[in-house]
Formats: sequence, structure tokens, C-alpha cells
Amino acid sequence: MSEKATIQFKDNNYELPVVTGTENESAIDISSLRGQSGLITLDIGYKNTGSTYSAITYLDGEKGILQYRGYPIEQLAEKSTFLEVAYLLLFGDLPSKEAYDQFTESISRHTLVHESIKKFLDAYPTNSHPMGQLSSLICSLSAFYPESLDPNRSPEEVDKTVIRLLAKLPTMVSWIYKKSIGHPVLYPQNKYDYVTNFLYMFFGQRTEEYEVDPVVVDAMEKLLILHADHEQNCSTSTVRFVGSSHAPLYACISAGISALWGPRHGGANQAVLEMLQNIRQGGGSIQSWVEKAKDKDSGFRLMGFGHRVYKNFDPRARIIKKASDDVLNKLNIKDPLLDIARELEEAALKDDYFIERKLYPNVDFYSGIIYKAIGFPVEMFTVLFALGRLPGWIAQWKEMMYDKQPIGRPRQVYTGHVKRDYVSIENR
Ligand code: CMC
Repeated sequence: MSEKATIQFKDNNYELPVVTGTENESAIDISSLRGQSGLITLDIGYKNTGSTYSAITYLDGEKGILQYRGYPIEQLAEKSTFLEVAYLLLFGDLPSKEAYDQFTESISRHTLVHESIKKFLDAYPTNSHPMGQLSSLICSLSAFYPESLDPNRSPEEVDKTVIRLLAKLPTMVSWIYKKSIGHPVLYPQNKYDYVTNFLYMFFGQRTEEYEVDPVVVDAMEKLLILHADHEQNCSTSTVRFVGSSHAPLYACISAGISALWGPRHGGANQAVLEMLQNIRQGGGSIQSWVEKAKDKDSGFRLMGFGHRVYKNFDPRARIIKKASDDVLNKLNIKDPLLDIARELEEAALKDDYFIERKLYPNVDFYSGIIYKAIGFPVEMFTVLFALGRLPGWIAQWKEMMYDKQPIGRPRQVYTGHVKRDYVSIENR
């Protein structure tokens, strides 16, 4: 006998089914409420609204648990590679050796991008933000693959687009950077693995052999894995939402990149580093910055702090903090911003304002320190988040499409004028 919840309104009781997920999370299915009662539910910012069933990522914000397809993030970050995690997210299970080889090989065969992409890049002013460029370039890819526009093609056809996206994003990201500094772009080299190839195209020079420290490759693998999916966050919900109208996959990913750009979401990693730099330059005690973050009129928040779902700790932040120590030690970098970050974290964690609101460092708090140590410019940080999130966005889009979910279309409670008659302009 399935459980039911009852909503009482005026003199009526409305019975609604309660559904339970595999980790025993329960939800009231309100889809029949309007039909029964005329009522809708209101939840601004979807703080307590499930938009879908999903078998991809599980997180428990109170316990600090994050799992992709059942595998704990700690194990994946320690033992897996980004492409293996991408496969896991996209296809539901870890690949066999043969499947993995086939997957990585097909990605390496699609890393080249159309030469015309360079013309797009030439047209952007040198100071244009890479997230804006990336979002437009990804949407523009649809022009090169017109057969990909229909998202209802066979799974094999869809997978071609998926492989293209995974393969071409690192090339496009590196080219955006190379163009921004006026350097010639580098073409992908299939002798490298995915992460090394990206680092080569980003940091390599045509004039010299490229060498990369394995600790940097390892840190990048970890960062990409940690960012690979995070269930129904703002950008993922955007991808699913745009996809629900059956727009092409390239357009959905482009929309996801735009959603990620904001400082309350992926843009926080850039904002954290800028905040740490401001604290360093602006001086003043760390406590004075904490006070500023508590003052609602200041318009200032501690970037990299707080999370909609994690109310205890962000498991990704723990792994990243350790990885940032490893990278800085191995590369022998003493970064004063790291000391500021540590002091800020300590001061905030013992402050009642942050304790009461359960505000803890999130994934973005320490990732910028590693990116900076590796040599990435600050404006590229959110692009690196996008590179990591890509397989998650695609996996969520595929799930939404294969489940044949209806178009996303929330309701509202109207608060504007009631009906009134048009008045001609001379009489207003
Ligand atoms: N600094 C100061 N106060 C904060 C902060 C912060 N970073 N975050 C939340 N608060 C306060 C907020 O003012 C509110 O206070 P009150 O209850 O007195 O009005 C309370 O905490 C709850 O905040 P909220 O904005 O209602 O919480 P939310 O769940 O809607 O927002 C958040 C979550 C991540 C947008 C928010 O914590 C924030 O803006 N953090 C800074 C930006 C950031 O680091 N974003 C990256 C998130 S993790 C990466 C990702 O997945 O995108």
C-alpha cells in the first residue's frame, strides 16, 4: 500500500501520493493537486521542489554525501579519471577496459574543430569574457552539424554529438585563451590523454617541447571529476529546461554555460580569487571583511561560502583543500592568498552568523588557489568549471530526453493589475 499525504484546504481534504527514492528520500507528488483543488504550489527559487526523478547523482546536504551513480566522490576523485567518470555519468556504469578504450579513442578522433572557429575568435575584442565566447561558440557548433539539430534521433546519432562536445570543448577553451593573449593556437595531439592534451593546448608553445608535472595533471583530473555533476543545480536545471523544448543539444549546453557564469553559481570561483586579492590589496583585518559579509547593506557576501544544499560541509571542498596543499607544496609555491583564505575560513567558521546559517566553504573556495598555482588566468576559472560539468549536463539532458519528460513550464501567482481598459495616449 503506497503512502499518501493529505492537504487540507477549507473544508476539503486532498490525497496526494508520496514517492520514495532509492536512498529513502520521500516527496509528495503534487501533480494532481491542481486538478483536484485548483491550487498550485509556490516555491520561489525551487528551494524545496523536486523537478524530476534522476538516477545520476545523489547528494545528502546534511551528511555531506555526494555520489555519482552510487560511487562516493571521494573514491572517484582518488581512483578514477575524468573520462572514466564522464562515461559513468553518461552510460550509468563504469566501463570495461574495452569500452573505455573505445570511448577515449573516439573522443581523441574528434578533438579538431572547424577552422572557421578561428574567425569567430578573431572577431571578439581581446578583453571579452571567455564564458561569453564559450557559450556562443558551443551554440555555433550546431551550424557545423545541421544533422544534429533534432534531439530525437537514434541514441547512436545522439552519442556522436555527445562525443563531439566532449572532444571539442578543451580545444575551444584553449583557443579562446591563446587568442586572448595573441598567441597562435595549438592543435590537439592524440599522443596525450584528455587532461594532458588540454594542458598542452592551453600552456604549450609552438617553439618548445611541452612538459607537465604529473601533480598538475592529477590535480586537474580531480578538479574535473569533482565538478562533473551536482544534480539539479541552476545550470543543470537550465540545460534540462531548455532541452525540454527539444532545442538542439548544442543550444542546451550553451544555455548551461550562461547559467554557470553568474557569481552565485560557477562564477564564484573567479569571484573568490578576486575577493582574496581585494582583501590583500585593501588591507584591514580579516574580521572586518567577515563583518562586511554579515552586513546586508554592504552588498558583499563571502564568495565561496554557503550552498543551497550542503548545510554541514561540502565534500568537494575537503578534497580540493587537500589537493591545493599538494599542488602548492609540489610546485613549491607560497601564495599569500592561501594564507588569507585559511584565515578567512577560520574566522567565518567560528562566527555565529555563519554558524546559525550553516554557511561553510564550498567547492569554489579553494579551487581558484589551485588554478592560480597551475597558471590559469582568473577569467578562465569558470570556464574550467564548465569543462568539468559538461558530462553531467549531457547525462542529465539524456535522462530527461529518454524519459520523455514534458516541456518545463512552471506556474505563477499573478500579482499585477486586475483587468483594466486601454486609455488612448492623449487621455493618459
Ligand atoms: N556570505 C554572507 N552571507 C551569506 C552567504 C555568504 N556567502 N551565503 C548566504 N548568506 C546568508 C544570506 O544573506 C541569508 O541570510 P538571511 O537568512 O539573514 O537573509 C542566508 O545566508 C541564506 O542565504 P540564501 O541566499 O537564501 O541561500 P541560498 O541557498 O539561496 O544561496 C548561495 C546559496 C550559494 C547562492 C549563497 O550561499 C551565496 O551567494 N554564496 C556565495 C556565492 C558562492 O560561493 N556560490 C557558489 C556555490 S557552490 C558552486 C556551485 O555549485 O555553483
